[in-house]
Amino acid sequence: MHRDATQTVFGAGGADARVMLVGEQPGDQEDRQGKPFVGPAGKLLDRALAEAGIDPSEAYVTNAVKHFKFTQAEPRKRRIHKAPTLREMTACGPWLAAELAVVEPELIVVLGATAGKALLGSSFRVTQVRGTVLEEEIHGRPERLVPTVHPSSVLRSDDREAAYRGLVSDLKVAADTLS
Ligand code: URA
Repeated sequence: MHRDATQTVFGAGGADARVMLVGEQPGDQEDRQGKPFVGPAGKLLDRALAEAGIDPSEAYVTNAVKHFKFTQAEPRKRRIHKAPTLREMTACGPWLAAELAVVEPELIVVLGATAGKALLGSSFRVTQVRGTVLEEEIHGRPERLVPTVHPSSVLRSDDREAAYRGLVSDLKVAADTLS
């Protein structure tokens, strides 16, 4: 993946952040700019976080996978996101473990199925656990996690408003856990 991507996109935020948000992988904009969640999904996420009562500038944001994976019909055509494989998530696992060890967040917000599988294993189902507080040992540390949908899924939804409300409501559970 690193051969096709522009650059590695590491996490961003303070090492003293109380909350860590984990997404899937950088998208097109993130790959170009070298920062996580700076494209359309990131803008939506920031808005939802603020509405839920979490200051986006105080959160640490990162991804389960650190490179953009895509298909492209021809050079200069649009780059279409491709989901990472379990092998790719596992290969990036040590980066996420290192970020968790440094930041030691009080809470992890799991954004969507890929982040959930990377952190909690392949049986993770976001629909079953979204908006709840989970307590699990991850990379040898006890962690508290609140899973929710990925902000990109809100952008793709037929009922965007309802999907957005659902995301904000899950993030409020995270905000309440922090306060
Ligand atoms: N989607 C993600 O999962 N991560 C990003 O950084 C951007 C979009």
